[in-house]
Amino acid sequence: MTNNLLMFIYLAASILFILSIRGLASPETARRGNLLGMCGMMLAVGATVFSPYVSDYVSVIAVIILGGAAGVYFALKVKMTSLPQMIAAFNGLGGLSSVFISAAEITAGSEMLLENALGLIIGAVAFSGSAVAFAKLQGLMPSKAIVFPLQQFFNLVLGLASIALCVYFIIGKDINVFYMLAALTIVLGITLVLPIGGADMPVVISILNAYSGWAAVGIGFSVNNVLLIIVGSIVGASGAILSYIMTKAMNRSLISVMLGGFGSDSGSETKHENGGKTAKAGNPADAAFIMKNASKVIIVPGYGMAVAQAQHILKEMGDDLHKKYGVDVKYAIHPVAGRMPGHMNVLLAEAGVPYEDVFELDEINREFGTADAAYVIGANDVTNPLARTDSSSPLYGMPVLDVDKAKTVFFVKRSLAAGYSGVENPLFFADNTYMLYGDAKKVTEEVVAALEK
Ligand code: TAP
Repeated sequence: MTNNLLMFIYLAASILFILSIRGLASPETARRGNLLGMCGMMLAVGATVFSPYVSDYVSVIAVIILGGAAGVYFALKVKMTSLPQMIAAFNGLGGLSSVFISAAEITAGSEMLLENALGLIIGAVAFSGSAVAFAKLQGLMPSKAIVFPLQQFFNLVLGLASIALCVYFIIGKDINVFYMLAALTIVLGITLVLPIGGADMPVVISILNAYSGWAAVGIGFSVNNVLLIIVGSIVGASGAILSYIMTKAMNRSLISVMLGGFGSDSGSETKHENGGKTAKAGNPADAAFIMKNASKVIIVPGYGMAVAQAQHILKEMGDDLHKKYGVDVKYAIHPVAGRMPGHMNVLLAEAGVPYEDVFELDEINREFGTADAAYVIGANDVTNPLARTDSSSPLYGMPVLDVDKAKTVFFVKRSLAAGYSGVENPLFFADNTYMLYGDAKKVTEEVVAALEK
């Protein structure tokens, strides 16, 4: 293959990647986006394998088969709610490959010292940081913020030492300094992510995703591969934008996320003290009765709906209410409901909920005041009114769905436990709230059964 043809195929692959990202921006076009990305990757890998730079086909093809098989296995096996861990693992591997490539380049005598050092530093932080994020999300270590005295000072010293070693390496070209830099930045990745609590972990993963992209850019310059530079930039920029969008939706700054300390282990330790008030338990038959006699019902899905895989029966409930009883049914989605951006949109789309019935926070919030009922299914933090009023709450400032303004609120969840942030929700104890205790799918099945009687 000539170099011109290779560049032409790389250009085509880059265009496909850009169209892929564009497609992924909306659930309607996401499938097409994925398909375009797959085509782009096939072109990129195929062209690289048959380029003049590859001579050892046996090891390249063996690695493609092994890596491809592992990818297919995990894609089939992983549950949707575990996708954040999978992304963390993939980011980590991306970072590690940058570390290996820069080490291989330097030992082979590459003169691109700065590019390789940058690929190494960013790749090593992405690798070890992602390993800690994976361990926290997978429950292999406590997900809470792990803090020790003078931690931020320690991280600052490690960061400055890394910069100093990088400069020293570029001046002295000493391979031992390169290895010391690798060791130091691997420790830095760990100590940067340890103090970050579970609630901020998806943001951290998105930041680490951006790092793995920027590391690839460094490596792209060092091995003179245009496609790696373009794709690394796309990953780096989209990861950075996504981190910004998530922190904005949670009303946190990127700096405060990186400095850490927010987010507890789980809701299990929450005390249920609400001025002596008790939460009222409702039952699915009463909920069905109130909702079928309503003129407007707003459904608020959250993480628990994803765990219970209740989206299909939920759509059936919405359809029954609308078609049989003429109720105006709307779905309200908070930007950080669930565990990853677009989590709820994807599940509702999978169940066939029409896009025109699904509303974002800004559009729907003014409608709760006129709704007869809000059916909150497996959501918690995204409805917590303390975010509006209690400046000492970790949720303070996060825009929330105003479900408390609805005439009657149903909370479908298994207990009074807190959500991801570990903060108790006073709405469970409000006069107009009824708790429908149980698994989201099972409870909704009972509501549907009652509607169909
Ligand atoms: P959460 O506040 O995490 O609440 C989910 C609730 O679902 C829990 O309180 C749990 O209560 C319930 N639940 C779990 N399994 C269930 C089941 N099988 N059936 C019924 N209920 C079940 O969820 P949310 O309201 O969607 O908020 C998302 C949280 O994640 C926010 O704190 C957000 O900041 C954080 N977060 C999200 C993102 C993205 S991008 N989505 C990124 C970073 C952080 P029980 O245990 O009582 O059942």
